[in-house]
Amino acid sequence: MTVISLEELSKHTAPNDTWMAIHGLVYDTSGFMTEHPGGAQLLESVAGQDASAEFEDALHSTAARTEEKISCKGVLAGSEKQVQRFREAGWDESMGVPDPEALIGKSGMSLPSTAIFLLVGAVAAAAAAWFIASRKK
Ligand code: HEM
Repeated sequence: MTVISLEELSKHTAPNDTWMAIHGLVYDTSGFMTEHPGGAQLLESVAGQDASAEFEDALHSTAARTEEKISCKGVLAGSEKQVQRFREAGWDESMGVPDPEALIGKSGMSLPSTAIFLLVGAVAAAAAAWFIASRKK
């Protein structure tokens, strides 16, 4: 994936050349401006910037996340690890704009790490039970 600097992102603010970063991925929304149900102006207001919070605040649907008229240009420099975590949680480009809450959850813990957490807890509980039982003998 191409790594795009914040400086490069900030250059794309023209109505026919609008880029924005959402959750560490840079999207070209130029082809969707006039069709955006929220209006072109809202997209223009975050052109060249990180629009993650604005995007999530509008409670976009899955259809919006997979809109075909936007294209992913690359990963924002510094967000490589965040995008890697999305991939580890099952995300890929075909899923469009990632939904961090659905992928990683509100706790910020990914599904594999939650499973490991529960497993370690279960083993510790079993060990404690075994220890208590063995002392009673
Ligand atoms: C990747 C960029 C974006 C895409 C593809 C997109 C797409 C859409 C779509 C398809 C809808 C219709 C409702 C839905 O299906 O969720 C929508 C609604 C809306 N969007 Fe976006 N959007 C984008 C970015 C943004 C940003 C950055 C903002 C705010 C700055 C925004 C604000 C809104 C608002 C307020 C609505 C509700 C409009 C209404 O119901 O009157 N969108 N968007």
